Amino acid sequence: MKYGRFDDNAREYVIEDPRTPHPWINYLGNEEFFGLVSNTAGGYCFYKDAKFRRLTRYRYNNVPMDVGGRYYYIKDGETVWNPGWKPSQTELDHYECRHGLSYSRFIGEKDGVKSELTCFVPLGVNAEVHKLSIENNSDIKKSLQLFSFAEWCLWNAQTDMENFQRNLSIGEVEVDGSVLYHKTEYKERRNHYAFYSVNAPISGFDTDREAFIGMYNGFENPQAVMEGASRNSVAHGWSPVASHYLDVELEPGETRELVFVLGYVENAEDAKWESKGVINKAGAKRIIRKFETVEKVDAALADLADYWDRLLATYQVNSGDEKTDRMVNIWNPYQCMVTFNMSRSASFFESGIGRGMGFRDSNQDLIGFVHQVPERAKQRILDIAATQFEDGSAYHQYQPLTKRGNADIGANFNDDPLWLILSVSAYIKETGDGSILDETVPYDNDDSKATDLFEHLTRSFNFTVNHLGPHGLPLIGRADWNDCLNLNCFSKDPNESFQTTENQTDGSAESLMIAGEFVLYGREYIRLCTLRDIDTAAAQQHVDAMVESVKVHGWDGDWFLRAYDYYGRKVGSEENEEGKIFIESQGFCTMAGIGREEGLCEKALDSVAERLLCEHGIVLNNPAFTEYVLEYGEISTYPAGYKENGGIFCHNNPWIMIGETKIGRGDRAYDYWKRIAPAHREEISELHRMEPYVYSQMIAGKDAFRPGEAKNSWLTGTAAWNWVAISQYILGIHPDYDGLRIDPCIPKDWKEYTVTRRFRGAEYRITVKNPNGVSKGVFMLLVDGDLTKGNIVPVLGEHGVHEVEVILGEKTNG
Ligand code: BGC
Repeated sequence: MKYGRFDDNAREYVIEDPRTPHPWINYLGNEEFFGLVSNTAGGYCFYKDAKFRRLTRYRYNNVPMDVGGRYYYIKDGETVWNPGWKPSQTELDHYECRHGLSYSRFIGEKDGVKSELTCFVPLGVNAEVHKLSIENNSDIKKSLQLFSFAEWCLWNAQTDMENFQRNLSIGEVEVDGSVLYHKTEYKERRNHYAFYSVNAPISGFDTDREAFIGMYNGFENPQAVMEGASRNSVAHGWSPVASHYLDVELEPGETRELVFVLGYVENAEDAKWESKGVINKAGAKRIIRKFETVEKVDAALADLADYWDRLLATYQVNSGDEKTDRMVNIWNPYQCMVTFNMSRSASFFESGIGRGMGFRDSNQDLIGFVHQVPERAKQRILDIAATQFEDGSAYHQYQPLTKRGNADIGANFNDDPLWLILSVSAYIKETGDGSILDETVPYDNDDSKATDLFEHLTRSFNFTVNHLGPHGLPLIGRADWNDCLNLNCFSKDPNESFQTTENQTDGSAESLMIAGEFVLYGREYIRLCTLRDIDTAAAQQHVDAMVESVKVHGWDGDWFLRAYDYYGRKVGSEENEEGKIFIESQGFCTMAGIGREEGLCEKALDSVAERLLCEHGIVLNNPAFTEYVLEYGEISTYPAGYKENGGIFCHNNPWIMIGETKIGRGDRAYDYWKRIAPAHREEISELHRMEPYVYSQMIAGKDAFRPGEAKNSWLTGTAAWNWVAISQYILGIHPDYDGLRIDPCIPKDWKEYTVTRRFRGAEYRITVKNPNGVSKGVFMLLVDGDLTKGNIVPVLGEHGVHEVEVILGEKTNG
């Protein structure tokens, strides 16, 4: 069952039934100011950091779900309704929510009145702009009353939810004409305020929540709205809000257009005040002026559309399959940009107070957006690297506002350092800009401790070399990529977190996943060494030794082991009762091609197909754990089939897809991709439940109570890795140091497809033909009509447009 449809021309998902199985959301903002918006206009906004600079409140885990947002109430006689259906939930004659690229539009119609609300964050502006049009399509004159509504968060989203002995007394506002200001804590240590404006005279306002809503009413029926008159309340403490009241008189056929701006302003310390106790409003006025007319708003919307045109033009496929095209051309790159902006911090699941930018997560996210915003990717790399320690290990996360690392969600994840090699090499392959390696970057944000970035990578590499266990395999530390495989934790206290509690330090638990990661990114590191004429012999020896250790101690007969536990016992082996096989080591060891010549990769991937694959994707481990295993930690706490215990953790499915492409099995790779690609799951939306346009972190696996049900959409490394799997390994257009490597691995029955790829300033129009019905192998490569040896399209300088023709075939063009 579907709840809407894709409109590919408009690059929108159109939700036609507001009762989606879950709030289906969108993200506004691309730079420093962000908003999250649901299909009923719920959500919140913040400046830079969802924890420290939250502008509006949101009620997580509420009943009903999705409470709090930018609400516009239209009162037409006795009927009160909202363009986005909620919160009043008055049945609309027509409802539509169009989630587009960085904007959302709500179209509601009731009793001959049509409203259209468009919400977006203009480029270069720290504000949400809401364009609201109200049209009288009836044949009688309408006297409507319009109320806006937003509830201020007292900046720090965490204390806002906790510290009520303080919070109830500190709220402060100012009202100036049609602009409502929020200035809590401004007179002391804050130099920022928020405002909510409308470009028309108002008939009234409210800034005190109880005055507007009433003590015993709710967002669905605020007393002021129900009575058709605001109270002109000025909040002193309690919960400050902002609500405008406007009378809207419409003759038949008449339309009124209004612009609301919900923004954020910082003032310099010596320019905070206009007069004693009165904030300096110049910054707000500047923003308001920018959007004082609908024409100016429309121009900003057009700029936003151009921005996305430019970003998406980097890679456009015409595969012949519309679902594949819409994922690759629109939604997957869009989601990658959102993960760039948010990491794992702010969604309708992640409250934005627990997690900042992740060292592991953000490095991986980067491979999904580096082709779109290389300059910003570079800055991100430098920010991440600055949170590394001198021994190569790293803070697991850092706060976006301060860019300082913290250990709030644990430390000593031994996979962390190696991801930096992945992101840096991806950046150089995309841009050709090796000079990033010369950038001076501090350790632990301490400028007195700084080296060039290349030295950071060396320390990342050496961190693994210096932390090997008894089998010559990498020690796992607190955990590797799988946060929940806590082999040194031994937690018996339900009040402690598996990620932050003290670990045993005398154990020798080792990870086969990090082993594969080390081989894969160790080779990348060696390649970077050669770019700098650095002798690679020692590094090569370490990588070779790791390959040997994996073959000797990491192979279980039909698949790669997952780990050795604290006691040196096998994890992920036929010997085990539960958790006999895990996905991560199959993914990383096959991506690294360990034992390919001996057939290990093929065997491991066949075992994945046999034991881990199900209708909805590839589960993480099998059999799932049914009991708590003290020496494995959190993984065994989840019910079977969910999350890291036998769930389809979509992040790691692409590792298997890529592994399959490395041994040429394109039918399998594409089949695996389709199983989890949201557009391919749209028809089962009632089961899948999450948005059909973006990936979710997890889909319940075959051992779950309800296999196929997804959870935790949007902020997941799934976006970046699926992007890489489909665009680089399946469709096979792969940025590399010397040019674009063309190495498709597709279903045998695909005949032809085209990709337009912008790369290092030029445009490559690539046509891949498959007359021989193969999956892999470039038989002939023509670049601008010239036969070219190998499968690399060389860098042909900036600005040109180049035709590339690729003929696949078994005999390759070596
Ligand atoms: C975390 C990742 C982790 C994954 C698997 C996600 O929630 O953000 O860092 O790799 O879970 O445990």
